[in-house]
Amino acid sequence: MFSRAIFRFVKAVRHVRFNSTARNQGRPSGFTDTLLGKTAIFTSGSILGAYLYEQDLNRKNKTTDSIAPSTLPLNMLDPPKYASDPELEEAVEKIRKVVKASDSVQPVVDNSSEQRESHSDTYYNTVHPSNKDQSPKYVVFPGSTEEVSEVLKICNESRVPVVATSGMSSLEGHFIATRGGITIDISRMGKIVKLNKEDLDITVQAGVGWEELADYLSEHNLLFSSDPGPGATISGICATNASGTNASRYGECYKNVLSLTVVLPDGTIVKTKQRPRKSSAGYNLNSLFVGSEGTLGVITEATLRLHVKPAVESVAVVPFKTIKDAATAVGEIVRAGVDLNAIELLDTNMMKCINKSGETSRQWSENPTLFLKMGAANKDSMKSLVDHVSQITKSNGSQEFQFATDDDEKTELWSARKVALWSTINQGKEENKDAQLWTTDAAVPISHLPQFLEETVAELNQSGLENTLVAHIGDGNAHSFIVYSHEQHQLVEDLVHNMIRRALRYEGTCTGEHGVGLGKRDFLLEEIGDSPVDLMRRIKLSIDPNRIMNPDKIFRIDPNDVAAEVHSK
Ligand SMILES: Cc1cc2nc3c(=O)[nH]c(=O)nc-3n(C[C@H](O)[C@H](O)[C@H](O)COP(=O)(O)OP(=O)(O)OC[C@H]3O[C@@H](n4cnc5c(N)ncnc54)[C@H](O)[C@@H]3O)c2cc1C
Ligand SMILES: *[C@@H]1O[C@H](CO)[C@@H](O)[C@H](O)[C@H]1NC(C)=O
Ligand SMILES: *[C@@H]1O[C@H](CO)[C@@H](O)[C@H](O)[C@H]1NC(C)=O
Ligand SMILES: *[C@@H]1O[C@H](CO)[C@@H](O)[C@H](O)[C@H]1NC(C)=O
Ligand SMILES: *[C@@H]1O[C@H](CO)[C@@H](O)[C@H](O)[C@H]1NC(C)=O
Ligand SMILES: *[C@@H]1O[C@H](CO)[C@@H](O)[C@H](O)[C@H]1NC(C)=O
Ligand SMILES: *[C@@H]1O[C@H](CO)[C@@H](O)[C@H](O)[C@H]1NC(C)=O
Ligand SMILES: *[C@@H]1O[C@H](CO)[C@@H](O)[C@H](O)[C@H]1NC(C)=O
Repeated sequence: MFSRAIFRFVKAVRHVRFNSTARNQGRPSGFTDTLLGKTAIFTSGSILGAYLYEQDLNRKNKTTDSIAPSTLPLNMLDPPKYASDPELEEAVEKIRKVVKASDSVQPVVDNSSEQRESHSDTYYNTVHPSNKDQSPKYVVFPGSTEEVSEVLKICNESRVPVVATSGMSSLEGHFIATRGGITIDISRMGKIVKLNKEDLDITVQAGVGWEELADYLSEHNLLFSSDPGPGATISGICATNASGTNASRYGECYKNVLSLTVVLPDGTIVKTKQRPRKSSAGYNLNSLFVGSEGTLGVITEATLRLHVKPAVESVAVVPFKTIKDAATAVGEIVRAGVDLNAIELLDTNMMKCINKSGETSRQWSENPTLFLKMGAANKDSMKSLVDHVSQITKSNGSQEFQFATDDDEKTELWSARKVALWSTINQGKEENKDAQLWTTDAAVPISHLPQFLEETVAELNQSGLENTLVAHIGDGNAHSFIVYSHEQHQLVEDLVHNMIRRALRYEGTCTGEHGVGLGKRDFLLEEIGDSPVDLMRRIKLSIDPNRIMNPDKIFRIDPNDVAAEVHSK
């Protein structure tokens, strides 16, 4: 069954991770030496210890027409300066003294090639390190917030680049150690700290996996909103503002974070809030760190908002003749004000793939298909919900309206959706064992979905490449999985870029939920323009003046940027 396959996969990933470490590289850095003055910004300096540094522009004589004190254009920066190899080794000796030994992970400071490799890349990343120097020289496994703080103090003093990882399921080269340095893997920090059942919230260490959390909460009839890739943990989910199938009903990650504990790049520990359900208390530091992809600090603990599981739930499977019809029906459902618990779309190729895999006990009609999760307080309200939804889909060209017959089938259906990526990979590998896979992630306003999907699927179909499409369609968010061989890299890159640019033309985004990482930095610029990105850079440098935290991700921090271009392995 699919769920067991996922479990085995995650176990295998963890096994590699725990049985595997780093090497050095050391590139020049240097910004603070050219800095003048400081202005307290963005947040009360006493909380964050964050200062805005302004550069000595006169001394540098760089493009004066880009002088914008509220933002920080790239051309106002000097290249960063990081620890040399000997400085890194010295720092690591200090780190060994502050991270206590552990029963579960040995050693806690590891530079085996296994650990170093597993912490720089995964098969399904769309961007891969361009050379061996883009892996961490050491992987450090701290056991507490205090240890993370001690490690970061040392890294701050020595300007050691730091990447934080947790589940390593992100897809855009988010955790490639572009500058060598160390990687802090927080997967040891996997304790549930406190469930406040009467308040519907929970405090967890940030290395808790969403699947383990879901199992734990299930016993209390509760759930947390985000269900992204198998193996992902709470810190990665917060750092990417992840969502998943449950987000259209229960909200994306940022809506469900009540408070975060974050260690800043100089070791300062910040807890953003207490745990009220609402708050107007100053800047929203939760949302500053949510989606920050490890560029502002290391998240070590989170207090999350929980939801009560629906009393009665059904899954309907609704095939359509065309993907356009399916998307149109979704628009109608959403605009009718009907709240479903999840609305997912699988295209014809995906349905074929699942059907062919034989992994579900049932066979499916090979057409674009909506999977609708409907929840209600009791059977009567469920019946009227189902009547309403089926009436809408029928008048918009659905071919049938089938239900999952029991809980097992419901689970099976949903796990089929969850491993869609692997079904595609397996199918691709049947034909070419060296097959590569490119996962895309774009989102558009719901009214543009029918056109967007129709054009996307038509272009992919014409390319002749094996591909499938799944969408969190209730949120206007679609993923294509494209299988390709080494020689087809340019072709697939063009297809992916066309899909992203199409989403941007339809007033959408280059990433609905996976984040920017390394792979989408240029599209972020295309999407929102220079000034908002320059503002992000200003915020980053105010908190991380030495640019040690996950360098090169989301936007460039080095005028002589050396980070990986998009390329195949
Ligand atoms: C099969 C598959 C399906 C997926 N489906 C979805 C989906 O439906 N929805 C969705 O949103 N995503 C999905 N993803 C993407 C991925 O699961 C999410 O981006 C997830 O949130 C990443 O979490 P992680 O724990 O694996 O983080 P990692 O990959 O370890 O890290 C991701 C980013 O977070 C940063 N980070 C990690 N830990 C910390 C920390 N402690 N402090 C600060 N920063 C940190 C890293 O530096 C990196 O930038 C899918 C991935 C796969 C492989
Ligand atoms: C690990 O570090 C030691 C020095 O601390 C070095 O001798 C060794 O070669 C490194 N191993 C790898 C795999 O880089
Ligand atoms: C961080 O490092 C700088 C040197 O780069 C040092 O001046 C500063 O005191 C350090 N901060 C902390 C909190 O240790
Ligand atoms: C997603 O929501 C459903 C209810 O619609 C719930 O049964 C399920 O457990 C949730 N998933 C997770 C991972 O919490
Ligand atoms: C998180 O995601 C939601 C939905 O995609 C978006 O509206 C919100 O702005 C994001 N928040 C952050 C802090 O990135
Ligand atoms: C589903 O797959 C099976 C096995 O490959 C095939 O026999 C069947 O015709 C397919 N079903 C449909 C509806 O195409
Ligand atoms: C879709 O359904 C809605 C509601 O039943 C209906 O008003 C609309 O005309 C239908 N659209 C199409 C294209 O059939
Ligand atoms: C896919 O392409 C084939 C020809 O290559 C065509 O017959 C078919 O109609 C296309 N399907 C879609 C959904 O565009």
